[in-house]
Amino acid sequence: MTPEIEVEGRKTPFELNWEHLHWRCSEEQKESDFPLITVVDGKRYELYSDETFAEVEKSKRAIIPNPKPYVRPTDCTISQELISTARALFANDKGLLAMDESNPTCNKRFAVLGIPQTEQARRAYRELIITTPSLGDCISGVILYDETIRQTKNDGTPFVKVITDAGIIPGIKVDTGAKKMAGYPGEKITEGLDGLRGRLEEYFEMGARFAKWRAVIAVGDGIPSQGCIEANAQALARYAALCQEAGLVPVVEPEVLMEGAHTLDRCREVTEEVLRTVFDRLHKQRVMIEGMVLKPNMVLPGLACLEQNPVDEVADATLQCLLRAVPAAVPGIAFLSGGQSAELASARLNAMNIRFKSRLPWALAFSFARAIQQPALEIWRGEESNLLQAQRALYHRARCNRAARRGAYDTAMETNGSESPSRSGSSAKALVTTP
Ligand code: 13P
Repeated sequence: MTPEIEVEGRKTPFELNWEHLHWRCSEEQKESDFPLITVVDGKRYELYSDETFAEVEKSKRAIIPNPKPYVRPTDCTISQELISTARALFANDKGLLAMDESNPTCNKRFAVLGIPQTEQARRAYRELIITTPSLGDCISGVILYDETIRQTKNDGTPFVKVITDAGIIPGIKVDTGAKKMAGYPGEKITEGLDGLRGRLEEYFEMGARFAKWRAVIAVGDGIPSQGCIEANAQALARYAALCQEAGLVPVVEPEVLMEGAHTLDRCREVTEEVLRTVFDRLHKQRVMIEGMVLKPNMVLPGLACLEQNPVDEVADATLQCLLRAVPAAVPGIAFLSGGQSAELASARLNAMNIRFKSRLPWALAFSFARAIQQPALEIWRGEESNLLQAQRALYHRARCNRAARRGAYDTAMETNGSESPSRSGSSAKALVTTP
């Protein structure tokens, strides 16, 4: 069907050259006619004159000289794409793999194992991860770091291509780290908003379709303060709005840290307060909730707390908190691991899905770094000869966590590798206890 546009109230056929984004119609347009609206293949487009387009896009990207007006997707097209990406990150019981350690953090982990702290070693390690056979069976998205998204395999293939060829969506960490917060001893504020719009555009062009920003909230005597929670929530919301403008799904990560002697109850109280504040700010910054991902901590007692609660109590406390504070429109929640052992992280996610999955509005998945990578890193230790065994360990953890999404993880899986029959969904109803 020939597409039509409205010029001064009249429907007028027009021709579009998609490749060059040129269009032509029989009517002469005045600057005041723009934008002209058309729907092609179910997508709504706004057509701008050169002048208007240049005005709109001035701060965004280089204008390619073009004698005819450009076509650009409207916000409604971008929204649909954000929603599809967010949903794809939770499809088929998969989850995310965070491999976005900054160079200092990556080097610190390498140093403990005697691995050289060089760009070459970091590149080789990241190549090991993304070339793990069948990784895409369990992993829907990987979170990269600025250095990594620019790297290539030994044979020159860009990492982004390797990842997308494996059916995995590339994502990118875009904050520039948590720094001491002025006036708030013991607390941190995450930086990285300056120049973020331009960086997001560059990452989108490089193939990233989602992004991540981590805020950290410490628990201790008199902290967290309201000032720290609010400042971090505001930054997360500004970041998320900029991501959506750029067509990237924002992964919003407010992490209540495990360091400290606080109890499970205290962590629940703090996590709930943080999440309420974050969603309030996301709303105020007009973030589309259907096009984002929440990456929270599980509700856990502090590492130095004398009482370390059993798995089911952690599952109940976490879900009580999330059900109170997270809107039903969020497509999915992907936990960080935060320094838990790999096996405990899987067991806790599994318990949450067994006990609650049938009555949750959002998917409950994983976005682990250490809880997927650590066993593989400890096997690899920088030695080429350990590569295959390390990849097997990485795949094993990814598989255990996919099983945990189904409520089919069992500690026996650690030794015999087979999933137990899924206990989530309707058959799990008998196990549900109201916290
Ligand atoms: P961990 O799973 O190791 O906590 O890392 C997740 C992450 O992305 C931290 O920002």
